[in-house]
Amino acid sequence: MHDELQIEIATYEKRTPKSAAAHKRALVRIPLGVASNYRHYEPYPLFVASGKAGHIHDIDGHEYVDHNLCFGALMAGHSHPAVVKAVEEKLHQGTTFGMPHEQEWELAEEICKRYPVEMVRFGSSGTEVTMHACRIARAATGRDKILKFEGSYHGLHDTALVSVKPKAEDWGDADAPNSVPGGGGIPKNSLANVVVASFNNLPSVERRFRENPGQIAAIILEPILMNVGLCMPQPGFLEGLRKICDARGALLIFDEVKTGAKLAWGGASDYFGVKPDMICLAKSIGGGLPLGAFGASKEVMHLISDHKVFHGGTYNTNRAAMAAGLATFRHVLTRENYEHTGKLSKKLTQGYRHIVAKAGLQAYIVSAGVNGALMLYPEEIKNYRDWTKIDVDLWRQYWFAMVNRGVLAQPYWWDEQWTISVQHTDADIEKHLAVFEEIAPALASAQHARGLAFVGAAGH
Ligand SMILES: Cc1ncc(COP(=O)(O)O)c(C=O)c1O
Repeated sequence: MHDELQIEIATYEKRTPKSAAAHKRALVRIPLGVASNYRHYEPYPLFVASGKAGHIHDIDGHEYVDHNLCFGALMAGHSHPAVVKAVEEKLHQGTTFGMPHEQEWELAEEICKRYPVEMVRFGSSGTEVTMHACRIARAATGRDKILKFEGSYHGLHDTALVSVKPKAEDWGDADAPNSVPGGGGIPKNSLANVVVASFNNLPSVERRFRENPGQIAAIILEPILMNVGLCMPQPGFLEGLRKICDARGALLIFDEVKTGAKLAWGGASDYFGVKPDMICLAKSIGGGLPLGAFGASKEVMHLISDHKVFHGGTYNTNRAAMAAGLATFRHVLTRENYEHTGKLSKKLTQGYRHIVAKAGLQAYIVSAGVNGALMLYPEEIKNYRDWTKIDVDLWRQYWFAMVNRGVLAQPYWWDEQWTISVQHTDADIEKHLAVFEEIAPALASAQHARGLAFVGAAGH
């Protein structure tokens, strides 16, 4: 670990003794001391006391401008007044019945208005909705295999947790990557039904279809790969996938858990002009409550109506989440708010670019919608394997240095990105940029001292 990183981590430890103690206590009863592995990092995670608008407080009493925003689930910002009001009302009228109610078609209407789908069903998380989408695609085609991209994340079910962060020794051919389980417990039979290709590499997709004739039910992807920092589809890539799916009789599933709300008013299909067969939504559509949805044409969704595919869930459409979702679509994800966040995103992105150039950092800034990232690599990354080359320790210096000065620039982990909420202000962006400007020279000199011959550690 280089000196500057050590200093920032020592400062972090000095500032946050209550988080350290809370983590130690939690470790006794909770594996890693956290409720999701993504929340764990060395030396220990910050423990949160509260959040309001674009800010949070930790339990040591420090305030942060929050661009983590629950791994991008809070384009609404914390406790958005419209969401709070709507949820509060429903809390007094019963939250869950296991019976239908009228908010269901209202929210389904909102979703069908924005995204190219005709019918939807609801769930409580991204994992759930990508799982159901894959199952429906299998039923619709009578095929078992799903094609996903190396480095993409679609949640935790057996089909999704494959080749998410594979180690270099397990990669295999770039045009035909191995299917690598993302941990123990994934049955070999299930691995055999997940075919992996490289993002931005249409020949690798063609090859996988050729090698598995008549067997691939669907391609599932994030239209922008957001689990390797932020990796844009190269021109023609999404259009190429559409053509391949049409030619091969497979479904195209856009996992819009991140992009659905945060990229644009109508999500990625609107932004890129490519129409998928199915869409998966979660995170920011719920305004901070657990809400997911998947949708497709009537023809595909009638597999559920015709009792050919089973879908259920005790907590589906609980009224608190539905009220939050409706308030989010009607009062948060408005055209005016996209205009507001668009301006903030431009300011943050341009500000970062200016500071990177001034400090002489070998890095680039990429942003789309309300997401963006500092990529500590001199060239644009186009796929997962490129991403593994970023300088991880330099990134850690960046993250801790920002935190120590009151800015959560993004979630911990260099495969993530910042999110701007509708409640962030110009002053928040100015603070974020002022802190980055303060730390950028130290990053540049650490980078210079380390040389550019670093190799990043793949995965976490
Ligand atoms: C693109 C994508 N799909 C699916 C998921 C899984 O969502 P959840 O954590 O709600 O299960 C995530 C979570 O980060 C995601 O980023």
